[in-house]
Amino acid sequence: MSANLASTPSRTAAPHPGESAAALRPHAEDAFAGELAALAAQDDRPRPARWKLSPWAVATYLLGGTLPDGTVISPKYVGPRRIVEVAVTTLATDRALLLLGVPGTAKTWVSEHLAAAVSGDSTLLVQGTAGTPEEAIRYGWNYARLLAHGPSRDALVPSPVMRAMAEGRTARVEELTRIPADVQDTLITILSEKTLPVPELGEEVQAVRGFNLIATANDRDRGVNDLSSALRRRFNTVVLPLPESAEAEVDIVTRRVEQIGRSLDLPAAPDGKTEIRRVVTVFRELRDGLTGDGRTKVKSPSGTLSTAEAISVVTGGLALAAHFGDGVLRPADVAAGILGAVVRDPAADRVVWQEYLETVVREREGWTDFYRACREVSA
Ligand SMILES: Nc1ncnc2c1ncn2[C@@H]1O[C@H](COP(=O)(O)OP(=O)(O)OP(=O)(O)O)[C@@H](O)[C@H]1O
Ligand SMILES: [Mg+2]
Repeated sequence: MSANLASTPSRTAAPHPGESAAALRPHAEDAFAGELAALAAQDDRPRPARWKLSPWAVATYLLGGTLPDGTVISPKYVGPRRIVEVAVTTLATDRALLLLGVPGTAKTWVSEHLAAAVSGDSTLLVQGTAGTPEEAIRYGWNYARLLAHGPSRDALVPSPVMRAMAEGRTARVEELTRIPADVQDTLITILSEKTLPVPELGEEVQAVRGFNLIATANDRDRGVNDLSSALRRRFNTVVLPLPESAEAEVDIVTRRVEQIGRSLDLPAAPDGKTEIRRVVTVFRELRDGLTGDGRTKVKSPSGTLSTAEAISVVTGGLALAAHFGDGVLRPADVAAGILGAVVRDPAADRVVWQEYLETVVREREGWTDFYRACREVSA
């Protein structure tokens, strides 16, 4: 017997009177509703049960492309096509998908867009932490109802995973390896038996077709070894790589900064490519411990300098330029952000940064203005 959990609470609360309903950060399925609708309308390939799109259309949604009627689908993920194809295909099988990678490689981003494209809903989400309880993955109880009427369907509070099973949708688990091992193991029955027993009611919730699960894990955090081998076998692992070249990374940062700037109502900035390129170059060199030309070794700071950090440094810089400058992104607008991202440990990282500044940045042709701006904030 399977419980009927199809009713879902409304997803967005009513705004205060007079306030616009625009969410600060709309869900992927809302932000890209137009693209998803265009894809669905023109997608004539077979769709797996309860999928909103065919696997091909899901991959196109993620990687971008132009539809037969000329609709342009913007790329969400910039990276090897095969990775996306394998990820999408996995979701159409009985194995769950584990997105693995160092911080800032778009694991969360890809997971959200996959769920939005496959199920039209990216909100069935469990955020993994060291304190994630079993109820967050299984179900909990509404204690007032439980005390008043005893255990009943009404008193049961389904987890996002339980709802995804009942509705045949995609569930998401963020930061799986941060969840304590015994709680993680709750997923084994769900993923292998596709069922979630509710012993208190003498029932179970069986996953209907269309259900699958996307987990993300950070391989720098505590190691994926924390995933029990029993659980690991239930997943297909897809590793998201760092951008392969500086050009690819500049491209990612430019696109994302533009999207974020639009959502923050920042005036469209004229070409900020020069500074974006510099931020990306500095981050890559410090990350790799080697200058782009391969000639000079540099020390790496303690924090991660991923694409995600580059995106926030540039977004912060554009806000500075828009509100306090002339709208053009200049070295002084990104310098403070770079310093903040690089120097996480005030003692050790500061030395690393000063050394990089004096030995690499100072000598680099055409970087004098950038060097000065960095010197000014680092003093
Ligand atoms: N290859 C890429 N293509 C498109 N966007 C990218 C890429 N790499 C990073 N980003 C951007 O970087 C930002 C951060 O990504 P996200 O938060 O998904 O990283 P993550 O891998 O989940 O990191 P963490 O391990 O810290 O949770 C997002 O805005 C995302 O758009
Ligand atoms: Mg993440």
